[in-house]
Amino acid sequence: MSSSAATFDSSADVYAEQLDKGISLSGESADYFVEGRVRFLADYLEHQMPLHDLQVLDFGCGVGNACGTLREQLRAQRVTGVDCSTKSIDIAQRRYTGSVAYDWSVDGQSIAMESMDVVYTSGVFHHIAPEQRQAELQNIFGWLKPGGYLALFENNPWNPGTKWVMSRIAFDADAQCLTPIEARRRLAATGFEVLETRSLFYFPRLLRFLRPLEGLLSPIPLGAQYVVMAKRPC
Ligand SMILES: C[S@@+](CC[C@H](N)C(=O)[O-])C[C@H]1O[C@@H](n2cnc3c(N)ncnc32)[C@H](O)[C@@H]1O
Repeated sequence: MSSSAATFDSSADVYAEQLDKGISLSGESADYFVEGRVRFLADYLEHQMPLHDLQVLDFGCGVGNACGTLREQLRAQRVTGVDCSTKSIDIAQRRYTGSVAYDWSVDGQSIAMESMDVVYTSGVFHHIAPEQRQAELQNIFGWLKPGGYLALFENNPWNPGTKWVMSRIAFDADAQCLTPIEARRRLAATGFEVLETRSLFYFPRLLRFLRPLEGLLSPIPLGAQYVVMAKRPC
């Protein structure tokens, strides 16, 4: 078992509590960040492909926080959640019991090659040891259809607020953040076409009146999180 699987198996029941403890510094809930990320992705994809009947993969889905929003916003036919933590997958599966629109996997072995239109991954790669990152990106590349998109969301180590938030979250104790530069370099080395990098979440709730500026600021890599959009070439 990987150290991430052990960490997240032992924190699966208290994941929401631990996350909220850190995130509360921003004045927002975990849902606010999920919705912001998925809204960004839906807006981006709307300009690239028709949003219907998509096969979407949530890599490192944890307890499934983003799966429902991904299905709604991307109008996905199916969302497949993959996570190395069996306990997190059990919880996710229970949350979405009764819906045939979701699939779950602990090791990804049941996922057919070239079967996914979109892969979403958020806050996962800083829990993967640097020497393992390339292999996981290679798996994602293989699961995507040619022409499919990857949205890699990560915590931004260049934002001091992000470091402060992470220092308050028990499951982040062993995290090793990756910079946008490392993320782009690894994606290119895997064979992805790297499309663009955007920064997200500049202002805490207290300064929410400034949030209309976030779109303009997004090329400046100082937001609390960032996303690198990449495409598997056709
Ligand atoms: C901080 S949580 C994020 C969960 C979810 N993406 C979210 O935003 O709520 C990181 C997740 O990545 C998973 N993870 C870490 N390494 C992984 C790997 N190599 N393969 C699949 N999942 C992994 C962990 O088990 C954990 O559930």
